[in-house]
Amino acid sequence: MSYEQLITNFRAAGQGQVFAFWDSLDANERAELAAQAGEVELAEVERLNRTLVFKTGGGGANLDGLAPAPVTRLPANGGDAAQWAKARTLGEQALRAGRVAAFTVAGGQGTRLGYDGPKGTFAVTPLKQKSLFQVFAEKIRAAGQRYGKPLHWFIMTSHANHAQTEGFFAENKFFGLDRGRVHFFRQGRMPAVGYDGKILLETRGSLALSPDGHGGSLRALHRSGALDLMKAEGVDTLSYFQVDNPLVRCIDAEFIGFHLAAGSEMSSKMVLKAYPEEKVGHFCLQDGKIVVVEYSDMPMSMQKETNADGSLRYAAGSIAIHVIDREFARRMAAGGEDVALPFHRADKKIATIDAAGKAVKPEKANGVKFEMFVFDALPFAKNSIVIETARADDFSPVKNAEGVDSPKTCREDQMRQWARWLKAAGATVETDATGLPKATVEVSPLFGYDPETFARRWNALAPKPAIASGLYLE
Ligand code: UTP
Repeated sequence: MSYEQLITNFRAAGQGQVFAFWDSLDANERAELAAQAGEVELAEVERLNRTLVFKTGGGGANLDGLAPAPVTRLPANGGDAAQWAKARTLGEQALRAGRVAAFTVAGGQGTRLGYDGPKGTFAVTPLKQKSLFQVFAEKIRAAGQRYGKPLHWFIMTSHANHAQTEGFFAENKFFGLDRGRVHFFRQGRMPAVGYDGKILLETRGSLALSPDGHGGSLRALHRSGALDLMKAEGVDTLSYFQVDNPLVRCIDAEFIGFHLAAGSEMSSKMVLKAYPEEKVGHFCLQDGKIVVVEYSDMPMSMQKETNADGSLRYAAGSIAIHVIDREFARRMAAGGEDVALPFHRADKKIATIDAAGKAVKPEKANGVKFEMFVFDALPFAKNSIVIETARADDFSPVKNAEGVDSPKTCREDQMRQWARWLKAAGATVETDATGLPKATVEVSPLFGYDPETFARRWNALAPKPAIASGLYLE
């Protein structure tokens, strides 16, 4: 499209301000701005302005006919141990057949942590200061060794962190993974708008663009060719997890088995909510479909509802761990009226420029960013299931610099897990009342990544090392 045509289209859509400084830009700057503007779907922005930005009052989430989602409970909490064993066998078969790939969404901005760099490069382990990416890489390597089939790993980045992420893997020799099996691709971007619906400029020659949310992963998988590559490689199942959670069992045979046995297109793990006010999404059932209702959308009275035995009625908390069928991702990516993921509105402080072209650093929210959430795909999935997991074995994200879900809480949760494994294998470990070991220890996923694999290696050690600070098992 010519520059003239592009500018005419933006003017016709009431977005001519995007080119306000066009005359003062040099040829490169013009090309850059035109390329960014070309990414914008004007009709989509118009629709989002109408439905999300100008919308006044009311409109909250639809809570009609909501009920708690059915959940497959852990054997320890009343689930059927034989069913879990069967799921595991099925999942292991799929892994041995090379049908499963790992999928990490790492395109977020990580503003709460305030770390300068891609979040996956953040040092997270207590002793070796391994990065989040290294922890996942070792878990994925370990799974490949165990099932005799190295796994493909897809990593979704953003425009802002793509080059740095690739560089980090190259510098670290892909942490021992086959580099031909690690695939990076960028997610899409969305323009931010002011409260008047006008697309904001970040500088005279660039738009205020931000990643389109983890829900953008489905179309990014498609656009990047990742789904075609998976097909060519015989991979039909994606194990989806977020970049901020080193405790996650990236490759979980039981979860994969449950997903396959149900013929599910997208499955989820849940943890029991720790307390009614906990800020997590809730797995619910609505019109026969699994949906996630965010804590901000569920009235507190509902969040506090209890069953006859006193347990919370809406107890299934979402932790953003899914298994996704490849062709389901393709269907969602193709979109269309019936299967479009909705956008959500996020009011943010957006760095922009004023009418004179001077930089503005707002003190309070001055506009809206648009994001899609991956869990909004659940109601479109056939036979969607939810299984329970133990929080201590699957979920301890690094979200904030301090306090809850911080590097400190995450380090401690990792050490508690290793202390449990050591104890289960018969070692004597001194811990406090919360299970935190007194000594700072670390276990590589290549030594063991669950109680069973850990015990096997531990029992084979002779003599056993002393459990003291600095002990690293690899
Ligand atoms: P969060 O919701 O925690 O957002 O992302 P964030 O951007 O990382 O952090 P804050 O809110 O700015 O502090 C959860 C997961 O989804 C990924 C993140 O990388 C993380 O793994 N994500 C989020 C994307 O991949 N793309 C996005 O556009 C948003």
